[in-house]
Amino acid sequence: AAEQLIDPFGRRITYVRMSVTDRCDFRCVYCMAEEMTFLPRQQVLSLEEIQAIARAFTELGVTKIRLTGGEPLVRRDVTSLFKGIGRLSGLNEFCVTTNGSQLRRYAQPLFEAGVNRLNISLDTLQADRFKQLTRTGRLDQVLDGIEAAREAGFERIKLNAVVLKGRNDDEVLDLVDYARDRALDISFIEEMPLGQISEHDRGETYCSSDDVRGLIEQAYPLMPTTETTGGPSRYWRMAGSDSRIGFISPHSHNFCGDCNRVRVTVEGKLLLCLGNEDAVDLKALLRRYPGDIERLKKAIVTAIERKPERHHFSSDGDVQIVRFMNMTGG
Ligand code: GTP
Ligand code: 5AD
Ligand code: SF4
Repeated sequence: AAEQLIDPFGRRITYVRMSVTDRCDFRCVYCMAEEMTFLPRQQVLSLEEIQAIARAFTELGVTKIRLTGGEPLVRRDVTSLFKGIGRLSGLNEFCVTTNGSQLRRYAQPLFEAGVNRLNISLDTLQADRFKQLTRTGRLDQVLDGIEAAREAGFERIKLNAVVLKGRNDDEVLDLVDYARDRALDISFIEEMPLGQISEHDRGETYCSSDDVRGLIEQAYPLMPTTETTGGPSRYWRMAGSDSRIGFISPHSHNFCGDCNRVRVTVEGKLLLCLGNEDAVDLKALLRRYPGDIERLKKAIVTAIERKPERHHFSSDGDVQIVRFMNMTGG
């Protein structure tokens, strides 16, 4: 039988999230500080190294890979990586998480490379707010990117909205309507404490998924489902719509019990849990033994034996992770 990754708690690891760059053309307030320094090129995995790691994981039974960032589409030559990963056998789901700014240019090449699911971040539909929340982004570009993705033929597009009290919580219904009108899925996310960001006080903006759901139910009764996309979202449905409404609630509904995933940071660290610092340095191994997939696989198998049981985030900011989301792979 093919090899499988099973952690000490009996969870099968079938989903890997890989950050392909720490760079981003946006500076979302909850993700990055205004002044960020990015990693020197030498410290970042090369496209070939990313490809080798992806291949090792698929040979270990991983069936779903998601490329994230930073913003994956700002990395130079990223299309060649997409093509390479799209050709790996054993991959059922090839997913990308993007801020949408480059999709007019990239939607078609991604689709052709075999990407079958696209998650696009969208926290607000108001241009001035979009500017405040992303600091450098433009709403019209992202909305156009979403249209480009629809035109390219993606079947399931999911929007992601981080809900912040007093910043965009009054737009929850507008976002639902936007998704509903286009038969897109949408997930509402509770903010997580990654990286210390001095201009942004997370204690003040926390908004629970139950509160968000309450806002939606003022307009649309929601029916719970047991559907899953293999990520942490719990999905609900509205009558008369194909859209699914998801909630990613690391604070209020811990989903670690059925965790199926690990991450690879842009520096090549295999991160066993988003909410823990424990990691294994795959880059060091790859640079010492270039192209040695078997050695890489052994290191991954050993690492999985150390996967923690759960994260310990708390909404009062008790547990603060030093890593920023852009390195981690949002
Ligand atoms: P699909 O279910 O495939 O659509 O993916 P997803 O929702 O897991 O991925 P996406 O990239 O859209 O991420 C949405 C949010 O979920 C991001 O803020 C992620 O950081 C968060 N997320 C994904 N996996 C985990 C996890 O294991 N733990 C925690 N705490 N957050 C996660
Ligand atoms: N908490 C929750 N979600 C975050 N994202 C980025 N930073 C955070 C955070 N601190 C989200 C982005 C994107 C997804 C990949 O991660 O908005 O939708
Ligand atoms: Fe799994 Fe860690 Fe995420 Fe929890 S926080 S779901 S244990 S990766």
